Amino acid sequence: MDNKALDIAPLEIRGPMHSTLRHDSAHKHVSGTAEYIDDMPEPAGLLHGALGLSDRAHAEILSMDLSAVTAYPGVVAVLTGADVPGENDVSPSGKHDEPLLADRLVQFHGQPVFAVIAETRDAARRAARLAKITYRDLPFWTDIDGALANGAPVVTDGMTLSRGDARAALEDAPRRLKGEMRIGGQEHFYLEGHIALAIPGEDEDVTVWSSTQHPSEVQHMVGHVLGIASNAVTVNTRRMGGGFGGKETQGNQFAALAALAAKKLKRAVKFRPDRDEDMTATGKRHDFLVSYDVGFDDEGRIHAVDATYAARCGYSADLSGPVTDRALFHADNSYFYPNVHLTSKPLKTHTVSNTAFRGFGGPQGMVGCERIIEEIAYALGKDPLEIRKANFYGPKGSGRDVTPYHQQVEDNIIDRVVSELEASSDYQERRRAIIDFNRNSRVIRKGIALTPVKFGISFTMTAFNQAGALVHVYSDGSIHLNHGGTEMGQGLYTKVAQVLADAFQVDIDKVKITATTTAKVPNTSATAASSGTDLNGAAAYDAARQIKTRLIAFAAERWNVAPESIRFAPNRVEIGNKETIPFPDFIRLAYFARVQLSAAGFYKTPKIHWDRAAGRGTPFYYFAYGASVTEVSIDTLTGEYLIDRADILHDVGKSLNPALDIGQVEGAYVQGMGWLTTEELWWDNKGRLRTHAPSTYKIPLASDRPKIFNVSLAEWSENTEATIGKSKAVGEPPFMLAISVLEALSMAVASVADYRICPRLDAPATPERILMAVERLKAART
Ligand code: MTE
Ligand code: MOS
Repeated sequence: MDNKALDIAPLEIRGPMHSTLRHDSAHKHVSGTAEYIDDMPEPAGLLHGALGLSDRAHAEILSMDLSAVTAYPGVVAVLTGADVPGENDVSPSGKHDEPLLADRLVQFHGQPVFAVIAETRDAARRAARLAKITYRDLPFWTDIDGALANGAPVVTDGMTLSRGDARAALEDAPRRLKGEMRIGGQEHFYLEGHIALAIPGEDEDVTVWSSTQHPSEVQHMVGHVLGIASNAVTVNTRRMGGGFGGKETQGNQFAALAALAAKKLKRAVKFRPDRDEDMTATGKRHDFLVSYDVGFDDEGRIHAVDATYAARCGYSADLSGPVTDRALFHADNSYFYPNVHLTSKPLKTHTVSNTAFRGFGGPQGMVGCERIIEEIAYALGKDPLEIRKANFYGPKGSGRDVTPYHQQVEDNIIDRVVSELEASSDYQERRRAIIDFNRNSRVIRKGIALTPVKFGISFTMTAFNQAGALVHVYSDGSIHLNHGGTEMGQGLYTKVAQVLADAFQVDIDKVKITATTTAKVPNTSATAASSGTDLNGAAAYDAARQIKTRLIAFAAERWNVAPESIRFAPNRVEIGNKETIPFPDFIRLAYFARVQLSAAGFYKTPKIHWDRAAGRGTPFYYFAYGASVTEVSIDTLTGEYLIDRADILHDVGKSLNPALDIGQVEGAYVQGMGWLTTEELWWDNKGRLRTHAPSTYKIPLASDRPKIFNVSLAEWSENTEATIGKSKAVGEPPFMLAISVLEALSMAVASVADYRICPRLDAPATPERILMAVERLKAART
């Protein structure tokens, strides 16, 4: 840059923190030029893998005849558990309960038993069907009821949270209600399915491209399976076509198989299951059975809650411990329970091992909680919103600010969020109008609901709350950014690049966002728990701070000025009032003065600690809040429905990027809506998942979107904790805004019995379930 350009240097940079900026790959996503793993140029001699799946839910393998598989034209190798040189296990929980390829015992219909490696993907898939396996069937159960009837075996220990004396308070409460609610699971339905490409290197080395939220774990799993150290394994992830939690652990299998085959055959190997296999062989959201017992008074104030959250976990632990824990951590949603006793039951079933999914058990915890609110409202003949307000956490120090896990809620803004949304959505007036409408409408009935969200931010496993970044400033002033987080569409890369642009005061296009790799930042956590920006943004900031500190020391010495007088101004550096130097020129001078222009940054979340055995601590650094109002219409003759309108007010603290945040809020609401309405998983009596393709599993279409959709961020909110730019995490919390869809549907159903009976609508509220609930209420009314 010459001096003339300097004269017209803009006063601001492009893309600092808090600016509205499109996703760095938005144009590539929509034009099909964003490179996913299956788009990468294929290495010479690439082989393709396919899985051989069990067709029994629970059985001993007596014999396996794989001769026809091996003989199939194009097949190069057939791998079984016996081919694993290290440990035949890819369990993320440390329980060693998830074989890479099942040996002797299969525990769900669709469990990988062997893998075929062939010259083409087609040959591998066709050959995989030719195995002759003889089994001895064992007793099995696929759902929560089955597990409870068989002694309630668990995949990991459940948790109990308690405060006060729930039993005594239930007995003393003026009113008491008990009930049960069933909440269904959910398939992730990421657009890009699981995939891994492994390229063997010399000695023990192997490089894997994996569609994973957790490259470090994939690295460790590949190491364990191959029996080699982590330093021989490099895992790269540029982007995922969606993860939603489904790629937190479930990519391990494909990556480990690809690496195993690549090392064995000394050729590159790719695994890309098709949609049916992906849906059959990888875990989903947990479904739950919530049993509740609540004591309350005539004002609707809760005195005590005792609830059990039983979950279908599948055959192995995977993340079921932390998922069911998080359900309990959110079984209070935004409400103060003076006396409470909560228990989780992570039940073992002979189904695929369930896993992380946006909200990580939190949504199920909250849905159960909102059912309790509804029960109280219908019992007292009040608007559920009144009951919600009567039970909100109070301000810090009010005595109504302690959670069931003994963390004090210090940043409570739920009253303000809810009252602003109530006003801006015209809730009261519309509710009155809807009640009028319903009085005069025979077939179509409407419902409206306002539900709050309070979601705890941090991994409850304290150690995971750390992150690293690696930042290089090259001598031409361009910046190379790498951190431990992965990009799955949520915009993490853009946000962290904004942090660097801001720190160095350079235009964002000077910051090159590079693929996540275990070779640059080690020992990373999964990009999960919505904490990607909090953790990696802060780590990148730390790296920038180190480089800037060195640059300031250099400049102070060279120009003989006080360090405080040096300023990183937009795209230039001001040396007191002596000189102004374009950023690239300044960097070149620093290079010649031998200043180190690269730094590894690090961050760990302060304050948090958690004692699971005692059920006490401060597991969350802060809470994210939000609220939504949804209005629906149902057809009482068919059970079909429409989402007429949704209004959302969501808290992201001081937004780092309003465009990305609003995108997250909208997407999360629609994904949550799918979970609670049309997405239904169904296993047959052989334990076979029958909903394993879009033909039988219905995610929302663009046309299912609310007809009116008003989404706002709480612009006044700032994180009271020291996060990057006072922002808050956004990835998961808005998923739970969709609970207002279920509650609005419930109100529409309740109208057929004059709102006197709680419809006890289970999730998903499919049209069939709505119709059955309408019939049930009509029958009860007369
Ligand atoms: N948004 C998109 N577009 N795609 C995704 O896969 N995953 C969600 C959420 N938003 C996801 C998404 C989940 S489950 C989490 S935990 C967060 O993003 C993870 O990213 P973050 O920590 O950077 O918010
Ligand atoms: Mo998100 S379920 O924490 O990957």
